[in-house]
Amino acid sequence: MIIDTVAINQQMNHFDGHDAVWLFGYGSLIYKADFPYLERRPASIHHWVRRFWQGSHDHRGTPDSPGRVVTLIPQRDALCVGMAYLITPDALEHLDVREKNGYLRFVTTLSLDDGRELEGLVYIATEENAAFLGAASERDIAEHIARSTGPSGPNRDYLLQLADALRQMDAEDPHVFDIERELVRLIEQAGN
Ligand code: SIN
Repeated sequence: MIIDTVAINQQMNHFDGHDAVWLFGYGSLIYKADFPYLERRPASIHHWVRRFWQGSHDHRGTPDSPGRVVTLIPQRDALCVGMAYLITPDALEHLDVREKNGYLRFVTTLSLDDGRELEGLVYIATEENAAFLGAASERDIAEHIARSTGPSGPNRDYLLQLADALRQMDAEDPHVFDIERELVRLIEQAGN
């Protein structure tokens, strides 16, 4: 079932009355901050892993030919490294539209790289959303990404920019780096 995530997200009132909210980004939000922010810091959240299990109908693919982008999957004791932004609540209007293809706002605890632990927001596309694709091997995901493109550009750029951003933060992420390695191999094989 296709749900209107923008309407659902706008009903969330957890941070009503707050002048600023921390947002945790783990995918394109790490490297593409197209919204104003007051502060930006590497951060992590516990008990979640980043996975290329979400279909993209609006950014890196189309409804007929979805790309693959990341979402978070619950996993006990896992640590997901990303980027945290301190934003004013009005920035959420733009973010709800940007993340409209299945992502809902969740409240989570963020650990900032300066030692602060804070309550913040994260957008997660759960397996109930209509665009969710689910698990596949890293090789199959790389092949899927290699052939996908959408209004925001080639799916491969999403993966390569994410992998670069994670490397710059010294973040461990075997899932992302294995898919990147497979993609680079495919690009070299195809000679493009
Ligand atoms: C995020 O980056 O936090 C959400 C997923 C994405 O937009 O790539």
